[in-house]
Amino acid sequence: MRSYKAKAVTPIRLPDREGRIEALDAAGHNVFNLDSDAVYVDLLTDSGTGTMSDEQWAALMRGDEAYAGSSSFARLQSAVSDVMGFEHVIPTHQGRGAENVVYGSLLEEGDVVLNNTHFDTTRAHVANQGAEAVDCPVEGAWDREATGEFLGNFDVAQGREIADEVGAERIPVVVTTITNNSAAGQPVSLANIRETAELADELDAWFVVDACRFAENAHFVKEREPGQGDRALADIAREQLSYADAITMSGKKDALVNIGGFAAIRDDDLFERAKQRAILYEGFPTYGGLAGRDIEAMAVGLREAVDPPYVAERVEQVATLGELLQEAGIPIVTPTGGHAVYVDAGELLDHIPTERFPGQRLVCELYREGAVRGVELGSFAFPGADRPDYVRLAVPRRTYWREHLEHVAETAAAVREQREEYVGLEIVEEPPMKELRHFSARLEPVEE
Ligand code: F0G
Repeated sequence: MRSYKAKAVTPIRLPDREGRIEALDAAGHNVFNLDSDAVYVDLLTDSGTGTMSDEQWAALMRGDEAYAGSSSFARLQSAVSDVMGFEHVIPTHQGRGAENVVYGSLLEEGDVVLNNTHFDTTRAHVANQGAEAVDCPVEGAWDREATGEFLGNFDVAQGREIADEVGAERIPVVVTTITNNSAAGQPVSLANIRETAELADELDAWFVVDACRFAENAHFVKEREPGQGDRALADIAREQLSYADAITMSGKKDALVNIGGFAAIRDDDLFERAKQRAILYEGFPTYGGLAGRDIEAMAVGLREAVDPPYVAERVEQVATLGELLQEAGIPIVTPTGGHAVYVDAGELLDHIPTERFPGQRLVCELYREGAVRGVELGSFAFPGADRPDYVRLAVPRRTYWREHLEHVAETAAAVREQREEYVGLEIVEEPPMKELRHFSARLEPVEE
């Protein structure tokens, strides 16, 4: 069942094989360099690529573009208060803006931050303050065949050990990311959020929740956590955040908008400090780098995100993509998470060594075979990190239909058929910062 129908559509075309081969060559075997109109099903990210509702489009017209005291900001405040339980809100241009505002206000050189798993931009903002980002994922978080209901959890015992090693005074912030994007979008249980908050309390640290996909996480809690099944989704969503001193939010995920984000903060003093930083980097604290209309759409989207049929369909659609891929013989991380299916390219193309980027090869072949765009999250994107060669197929919200997902699975099946023929890739051009190479580097096939 679908609880919505289309009102506006965007034409898409599948370029012919020759066109796809040409586009891939011109892009230097890097799908970030492709023009989007050469892509048929775009699963590069679920961030800002979803479809807004008619209510959100209508809200754009109500946007109050006042520099200060915008009524759109007041509507965002009220939505954040109702849906997330925070009274102090600072809008930002997107999630990483919120990270800058929060971590820039909390961290100093030499500090250590614990997180179930830092998302890339979170890690970068921690590092930018001269602090060290340490991950505490549970065992199995990276294992594609691990079973578990909440593989996104924070390993609290590990966090405690690290605190004993480095000293609690060096850890001013403990974070949990829901769902855990870097661990295949796996959910975090309510019980675990509570325990992580207790750890933060023991360490006398601030407890921050990266709330990007809080609604999807709440759905898993309702489905899987003992004693939660009869509760309203909105209650669970709020309780998850009730333990946090602050949250960072990318509106491009579970606020269902194309751009925007915010930080929400409980403590009055921290809020004042963060506002000063927001003025410096984002804008006056009632617009924060956004147009009033963007804020207005975010306020509406936040409420829609906790509508139970919407979230259930969303998470089920991701699961459906996973099932279709499995039927096509593709090795994926199971159970599937909330926003994406992660394919184990290291296993599918096990004749290509990790230093020849099997994940990137798979990304290229999905494009060449069916103009499907995914993203590599292995040895190419994370040089030197000990990560499996996964490819992420992220599903934009309210955007694609089952037919699109079937096309993705058929494309993957065709790629699998020909897998023996594929060779690895080598980088022939890359930017100075290795950490950012996957966004712009150029590669070429290499026979060896
Ligand atoms: N935190 C998490 C868990 C994220 O997934 C993202 C973005 C951010 C923070 C930063 O938010 O992009 O609005 O600045 N993730 C996107 C992705 C880019 O493709 O997973 P942003």
